[in-house]
Amino acid sequence: MLAARLNTFDSGKVAARVGSLILENDDGLGDAALLELIDAAVADELDFVWIQTYAKLQTNLLEYRGMLVEMEGDREKALAQARLASLRYDVRALKSDSDWHQLARLLPFAAPTRFSTDPHISVASAREHKMSLMKSHVENRNGTVALAYSPSEPARPVAFHCASLDEGAVQLYEIAVDPEFRRGFVALNLIRHSLEFFASRFPEIRRVATRIYSDNETSIRFFQYLGLSATGRHLHYYHCWPRKESR
Ligand SMILES: CC(C)(COP(=O)(O)OP(=O)(O)OC[C@H]1O[C@@H](n2cnc3c(N)ncnc32)[C@H](O)[C@@H]1OP(=O)(O)O)[C@@H](O)C(=O)NCCC(=O)NCCS
Repeated sequence: MLAARLNTFDSGKVAARVGSLILENDDGLGDAALLELIDAAVADELDFVWIQTYAKLQTNLLEYRGMLVEMEGDREKALAQARLASLRYDVRALKSDSDWHQLARLLPFAAPTRFSTDPHISVASAREHKMSLMKSHVENRNGTVALAYSPSEPARPVAFHCASLDEGAVQLYEIAVDPEFRRGFVALNLIRHSLEFFASRFPEIRRVATRIYSDNETSIRFFQYLGLSATGRHLHYYHCWPRKESR
């Protein structure tokens, strides 16, 4: 029988108890097996379960969230690319609570996530979750979060970026630019800041990686510009809400 294991990376803001299941291959997972999984998850008092698979599941029991592309590249090459752009923006690592409040105002510009597109989860809750996750990247994964400020209005933050270390790579976890300032190299200035941060502290970490929904073509181009390419592991993402079924 399939078993979801308790997964705690989801920070408890969207749900306290999260189950996850990674299917290594698509061996004909049917609705009967999925129903058993959901029943077991409900009995285990999980709030929801997410599933990664390599092939699309034929079921209405779970909600499809899109295909994630895993991208990877060389950190030095990415840094060299980022340095090609002139430094136009004041980029500063977040330190105080007021910095985090400034970042919160930029969250509407972030890419949609499985939570922000889930009708069961409020916008406020999805954003609170994202903030909490970024704080945990800083606290637990040697992460850094930075803001970029407008050159003409120095008090106005126009973009943010979060990166951390995981699985022997610098993970470019999140980057978002106010639409008014896009295509002006803000993102490159931010990436440069974080890659320099990691290059100086963890010179032995040579890889840079990210995960991105396949329909986010703009950012796939952006990461390609940095020299990242798809590693070929295209995962589908599924998400269900067992408690809803049990009501
Ligand atoms: C992806 C994003 C962060 C890029 O920010 P940006 O500041 O506009 O990017 P830059 O100006 O630094 O672009 C650097 C290079 O990336 C590529 N690129 C960026 N945006 C692009 C676009 N819309 N179309 C094609 N290529 C693009 C280009 O090669 C560009 O260099 P060029 O302008 O000389 O051609 C921004 O579009 C954004 O905030 N998107 C929404 C949030 C998101 O999807 N984040 C990524 C997932 S976490």
